[in-house]
Amino acid sequence: MTDIAFLLNGTPVRITDAPPTRTLLDFLREERGLKGTKEGCNEGDCGACTVMVTDEAGPRALNACILFLPQLAGKAVRTVEGLAAPDGSLHPVQTAMVEHHGSQCGFCTPGFIMSMAAGHAAGRKDHDDILAGNLCRCTGYAPIIRAAKAAEAASVPDWIATERSFIPAQISSGGEAEGMGGQTAPLSSPPMRPTTKDALATAYAAHPQATLIAGATDVGLWVTKQLRDLDPVIFLNGVADMKGITREAETLRIGAGATINDLLDAVRGPIPGLAAMLRRFASHQVRNAATVGGNIANGSPIGDGPPALIAMGATLHLRQGDARRDLALEDFFLDYRKQDRRPGEFVEAVTIPDQAPALRCYKLSKRFDQDISAVCGCFNIAVEDGIVTAARIAFGGMAAIPKRAAQVEAALLGKPWTMEAVTAALPAFAQDFQPLSDMRASSAYRLKAAQNMCLRYFLDMSGMATDVLEVSA
Ligand SMILES: Cc1cc2nc3c(=O)[nH]c(=O)nc-3n(C[C@H](O)[C@H](O)[C@H](O)COP(=O)(O)OP(=O)(O)OC[C@H]3O[C@@H](n4cnc5c(N)ncnc54)[C@H](O)[C@@H]3O)c2cc1C
Ligand code: FES
Ligand code: FES
Repeated sequence: MTDIAFLLNGTPVRITDAPPTRTLLDFLREERGLKGTKEGCNEGDCGACTVMVTDEAGPRALNACILFLPQLAGKAVRTVEGLAAPDGSLHPVQTAMVEHHGSQCGFCTPGFIMSMAAGHAAGRKDHDDILAGNLCRCTGYAPIIRAAKAAEAASVPDWIATERSFIPAQISSGGEAEGMGGQTAPLSSPPMRPTTKDALATAYAAHPQATLIAGATDVGLWVTKQLRDLDPVIFLNGVADMKGITREAETLRIGAGATINDLLDAVRGPIPGLAAMLRRFASHQVRNAATVGGNIANGSPIGDGPPALIAMGATLHLRQGDARRDLALEDFFLDYRKQDRRPGEFVEAVTIPDQAPALRCYKLSKRFDQDISAVCGCFNIAVEDGIVTAARIAFGGMAAIPKRAAQVEAALLGKPWTMEAVTAALPAFAQDFQPLSDMRASSAYRLKAAQNMCLRYFLDMSGMATDVLEVSA
């Protein structure tokens, strides 16, 4: 149990015994009767549960179904019930949705409205991206996008704009303390919420069996889908000095707690090849919560971050108590879901070059947005005077771990950068990878797709338009 305080639709809430993995969605619907926030998938896929969460970094859309109550401490939460003005007049995105007929059955509508309101508060106009994590099955997206565009010009309503500055004062003024009960088994240790890396290192060293929870976009599903009880837990989202992305010499040091959207914003200009892939990582809501450290530490063979970072030659920074060690990111992944991480050791940061003009990442999935990769191929090849002088190629979805294509790299090194030489290197993919067949793709399809990605990279680097958003019939 843990004590937490946050603002809910402008009113302070203090919970004295919040179970550590109680989701915001369950709290809203079951404890507060706020049923405007819908439950669709309960795993971050559909956006029906989207709420707006504001803190010192500004307003963000998040999926309430995979957000645990302790992650909200010190923040302001708005649900669809709290979006209109205190006098009942509608928020501009609500008005626009009415005027543009953006709702039919209405199940998805609160989630869309909250994504739109968070985007509107942040001044975003890339509505396709902002709304890619919200599914609608009856209205169709055109009226919804028209509504989002129509609301662009309206100023952010006062009761939303002022929320940020009021949070600390309002929360510390406190609300009625309330207990939730409902937790039957006593916890071995209260949930820990360190606020610095040093405090995290101490807590984790003392409780090496604890589950670290960063954005909870993987861990959330262990609770909502696998019904696991997690105890003890250490929440990382309050560790402020682990979130920064800093330029050092010719590198970018990315704190483990930086979100995928933080990274996307940081690399949009300097590393467009990485930004293009991150744009297709999950959805806006998930990227607002998901961290770079969680993506690496999770060790999924189909995670998208590791192949891209490996292709860039990333160095991983690990910390256990006061001891720190660095290793090449590819060496971190030992076997299926087995990483080179010692008890009490956590991912502190990862370092990449601050530019990678030759990096391209190709994500193959059944949907363009918000889907897990069947194959994710990342290429970073240097060519001087027509000869390949360095090659880093890494794949997700091709092996039990994110893995370099060492034989393909060797087949290309020192060779002329020509279609003939690239084609001649393709059989080496079968030496590097013996992929699985599963519901996403067969082994043969994966192998063929990986080879085709290599050809695509050659054409891409030769100046041919290969992006599916650019190619038209
Ligand atoms: C709908 C949906 C879509 C998704 N789409 C994608 C996608 O397109 N591509 C993709 O790669 N992933 C995707 N994911 C998976 C997930 O979002 C990412 O893996 C994410 O980066 C995990 O980060 P997190 O902060 O949420 O980690 P958490 O869920 O908090 O933690 C994940 C694991 O990492 C550990 N951990 C977290 N931080 C640290 C640390 N600093 N040191 C050591 N261990 C740590 C945790 O203990 C846990 O084992 C998706 C998930 C959802 C729900
Ligand atoms: S219920 Fe589907 S994303 Fe939360
Ligand atoms: S209005 Fe019915 S699902 Fe969107």
